[in-house]
Amino acid sequence: MPKKNFIDDLISRMTVEEKAAQMLQVPVSVVGMDEARKWARLGVGSFLNVLGEDMEELARICAEESRLKIPTIFGIDAVHGHCLNKDATIFPSQLAMACSWNKDLVRKIAKITATEVATEGIQWTFSPILCLARDPRWGRTNETFGEDKFLSGELGAAMIKGYQGEDLSDDTAVLACAKHFIAYGEATGGRDSYDTEITMRKVRDEFLPPFKKAVDAGVATFMTAYGSLDGVPLTANEKALRGLLREELGFDGFVVTDWDTVNALINRQKVCADHKEASRVAAKSGNDMIMATLEFYKAVIDQVKKGKLDESYLDEAVKHILTIKLRLNLWEKPLKKGIPGSIGCRSHLNAAVEAARESVVLLKNNGVLPVRKGKKIRRIAVIGPNADDIRAQYGDWTYFTHPVPGIEKEPQRPYVTILEGMRDIADHKGIEIRYSYGCSVNRREYYKGNFESIPAFMEQCYIDNSRKTDTYKEMPFINEAASLARECDLIVLAIGDNYNQAGEYNDRAELRPSGMQEALVRVLSTLHIPMITVVVASKPLVLTDIVEKSDAVICAFNGGMFGGQAVAEAIFGKINPQGRLPISFPVVTGQVPVYYNQLPGWHEGRYVDCTEEPLFAFGEGLSYTWYEYSDLKFNKRTKTVSVTVTNNGKRRGVETVQVYVNDVVSSVMTAVKNLAGFERVELDAGESKTVKIKLEDEAFSVVLPDETRVIEPGQFEIFAGHSSKDEDLLKVTVTL
Ligand code: GLC
Repeated sequence: MPKKNFIDDLISRMTVEEKAAQMLQVPVSVVGMDEARKWARLGVGSFLNVLGEDMEELARICAEESRLKIPTIFGIDAVHGHCLNKDATIFPSQLAMACSWNKDLVRKIAKITATEVATEGIQWTFSPILCLARDPRWGRTNETFGEDKFLSGELGAAMIKGYQGEDLSDDTAVLACAKHFIAYGEATGGRDSYDTEITMRKVRDEFLPPFKKAVDAGVATFMTAYGSLDGVPLTANEKALRGLLREELGFDGFVVTDWDTVNALINRQKVCADHKEASRVAAKSGNDMIMATLEFYKAVIDQVKKGKLDESYLDEAVKHILTIKLRLNLWEKPLKKGIPGSIGCRSHLNAAVEAARESVVLLKNNGVLPVRKGKKIRRIAVIGPNADDIRAQYGDWTYFTHPVPGIEKEPQRPYVTILEGMRDIADHKGIEIRYSYGCSVNRREYYKGNFESIPAFMEQCYIDNSRKTDTYKEMPFINEAASLARECDLIVLAIGDNYNQAGEYNDRAELRPSGMQEALVRVLSTLHIPMITVVVASKPLVLTDIVEKSDAVICAFNGGMFGGQAVAEAIFGKINPQGRLPISFPVVTGQVPVYYNQLPGWHEGRYVDCTEEPLFAFGEGLSYTWYEYSDLKFNKRTKTVSVTVTNNGKRRGVETVQVYVNDVVSSVMTAVKNLAGFERVELDAGESKTVKIKLEDEAFSVVLPDETRVIEPGQFEIFAGHSSKDEDLLKVTVTL
């Protein structure tokens, strides 16, 4: 039977109960298998958080025992590898992999992840996140591709193509999910799921572009955001779901809500009085599949049977869902096959090493790096809470943070921490590695009050210790680290945060490193031993004091299985760091928002007590060579930038050429510059290449108060260079 008739015919045979079930996604981790089986017999549309034999049983029940035998689909959060499976390949987080600015790498990571997910039989991953992290207080910063709409759109589209391949029915293709629609990370105060005070003009200008690229890349599903736009929850936001997404972007897949957001309309956002109203609103607003709000089932049936909700809303939602199920060829292949034996295989692990290497960002280096023979380095002290903590290195959305029932929470090999990576290389160089924990990440409560100096602080600790009070347990660790470092020629200090300081519900009001980490750095800096600080964190932290006391700074974010290996290889110069920041680092927390593409108009452009410049800028990153730019040209007819890049150093390296555009005068305010293109180029020492980057028309457009996007004739500044900082950029001014 032709596909279109097949679906229409099927819908015509479905009861309202079966349509309501098809719109439901049941969390097996919550209801358990007994109840899940009942839902399967009712013909439920989807399950999440179930793997292995339980998943296979539910698939069989839906496909063989439900009345119409409509196969179900299984979703999982495989967002930087199939991380909820303890044997799977765990890549750097999205924020870390974004440091590579490498679309091919991101697509490869997604393809491998899809293969491993499909090998479990699963057909759908809730990835990529296309939210922008413009306020790093937000707990979910690590899940994004950073602060910029262009970079996020480019990497997001690459990821979607990696997941979905050319044909959704392929054995290794899985549905991607563009999430969370829309402007979720822009909530006031960086507060997860809170309201985003924003106009639809701003939504179109800043937050829609990555999602448009997702639709253009053929993404099969979208997920709505927990939050609200100017007081209207996304779950109830017809203008966003039907207007922007369906009518304007032409999205033809299906929309799933985020976790239990239909209940949130009642009990958190308080825009609906009960389940009947919430279910009616959710269906009418354009949500096709309802995640985890099981009350939706009875409520929506009740509303249709009472004539309060037209059944056509259910028909439309079910049609969106069944259309994607048909593109999966689900009736022939109720579960994905993948590639048996591929989960955690050598080639996948090698890709994780490659990704970790390209994610390392060198932010400061006074010449102490790379550690070379003959620099009289005989003993290295590796210190700090994140030097040997694989949980901190993995970050969010792994089998530690989101364990699927029955899956181990203990760390599974293979992985390489910073300490292990340092030992692996140092052993071959006859360099001794010594290790000390230094302090924990969490115990801020022991650091009571503001001591004038560390000695005063330490004095107080000894007093407290002598009284055997509980005030201060960290001091011995810090002292032990200092004693050990005193006998070494170099310190590698790994600080940052850990996964209970990141993710949903874990927003932060203070971005300075927590616990005693700053005290540890101050104590170590009094030793006057060269110190390399490595940041293993889920987000930009306020490192101002630490950077000032460090001879070199490496940002590793959450580098995945082999993050420690990549950092060690960078320290010893086995790799030449090539990462560039996808997000700005603030000088102090109060400087947020500090993203690079600010609007003009700030009186004096600075605070009285802080610079307006970030500590580290979007696009910034050093290497063991340096690059010079020359001969910037812009072809108005083809809108193509060309610029020559020369490697002026002594070793081969990869430079990420960045192109920014500023609309000099526009009828609405536009950012001082916006990223409009980038290209990675590998250059031998002394080699020059001319790079050509074609710009999209959108790079020259503005969104007017009437919400239309237009290109206004006038002058445009075109920048090309090494980072978003003016001092790193060449500029030409053109009139279009
Ligand atoms: C979570 C997250 C979303 C995830 C979903 C399923 O709460 O907000 O990103 O895909 O629920 O786990």
